[in-house]
Amino acid sequence: MLFSVAALLVQGSQGDLGASLRRQAPVSEMEAPQATGPLVIRLERVDALPSPSKHTKDSFYVGNISVGHPQQTMRVLFDTASGHVLLPHRVCKSPACVAHKRYSPWESTTSADVNEDGQAVQAGHRLAKGPAKRTEVTVEFTQADLGSGEAKGVLVRDDVCLHSSESNAQACTDLAILAALKLADQPFLAMPHDGILGLALQGLSAGALSTFYERLMAGSRRLLPHFGLTLGPNGGEIAFGGHDRERLSGPLSWFPVAKPEQGFWQVEIKKVKVGGVVVDECSEGCFGIVDSGSSSLGMLPQALQRTLPNLHVTSEEFVGCVGPVIELDLGAFDLEVPAKDYTGQSCQPEIGSLDLDPKAFNGVYALGTAVLRNYYTAFDWAKARVGFAPLTLDQARKIRKTKGEQVFVV
Ligand SMILES: *[C@@H]1O[C@H](CO)[C@@H](O)[C@H](O)[C@H]1NC(C)=O
Repeated sequence: MLFSVAALLVQGSQGDLGASLRRQAPVSEMEAPQATGPLVIRLERVDALPSPSKHTKDSFYVGNISVGHPQQTMRVLFDTASGHVLLPHRVCKSPACVAHKRYSPWESTTSADVNEDGQAVQAGHRLAKGPAKRTEVTVEFTQADLGSGEAKGVLVRDDVCLHSSESNAQACTDLAILAALKLADQPFLAMPHDGILGLALQGLSAGALSTFYERLMAGSRRLLPHFGLTLGPNGGEIAFGGHDRERLSGPLSWFPVAKPEQGFWQVEIKKVKVGGVVVDECSEGCFGIVDSGSSSLGMLPQALQRTLPNLHVTSEEFVGCVGPVIELDLGAFDLEVPAKDYTGQSCQPEIGSLDLDPKAFNGVYALGTAVLRNYYTAFDWAKARVGFAPLTLDQARKIRKTKGEQVFVV
């Protein structure tokens, strides 16, 4: 997901969103973070839901979080290129909301309606009642696979918890969730998950309490300010609070975040090559935005035009798609995308076209999961840098095995 515009509006009409849904529940205590070492969350790779306008090869890595008390389990995309925890609000009637599980503030004893400054919408009322002025947030999402569209919503403060898939450990933080009142069919209807957990830097969120990772770090002295992502053919994992050295076949190569004020985990690309031939000299600068929320490698239309004619891919019996490697040269490290990772079922190239303002996003490439799948990606929040390392073969094998599938690793 590439977030491009966030507009804040103060609306006069959205106080009481659903008095009939309100009910009392016993007050429970917020659990303290119990994690020691990284907290590892299992991700499954799931296909986009069928949609009339799009092919269905796109897939997403999704995992579970829980929200509120008692816990409402939501299936989310862990998205390094957007800045909010976005969930459909219980009152949202958009088809894209109704098709997914919706978060209900009324079923949670810890929820509170807030404005962008984190303050209560109505003094003395946890959930606003009757007409009230409150912040309405509009976020434009651009997705190389599913297209662009808007989410409109309000801010609700509640606890969001991550649960280890290896132990009973969990880590929680309270933050301002963007609870959507309207979700555009495109791109949200085809999403196989309920919501999005944005992991971008501070610059991408609206409001004081909306940046998940910052909030998580503020509330936990045990988690280190790192997270790491491993994506396999069928599933993967995201480790919060460190990285697992066993996953790496070599040391991480670190790159500073370029233009950190923009909020993206983006690194400078020196050159782009196809089969060893330079297709983008990057004379005005190129940037790779790490985007775990898109499946393809995404390019601006101009770059796409330059690259596509060079991608001669053939289908070979027993081997699969054979074609040139796309190389993103980062200087000390090359990110390589082999033909099998940028092609569809009949070996035709599937590069996502990025519908972004070419001025603000000049030279941008979106490093979707087709790129990230070949590497371990580490995110260092404290030093604002991104690290890449090849995955160990064992790791690739392990992720395949855990899914119970017979896959030969060559
Ligand atoms: C998420 O939770 C559901 C049930 O609550 C479970 O079936 C599913 O396997 C979980 N997914 C992951 C990736 O842990």
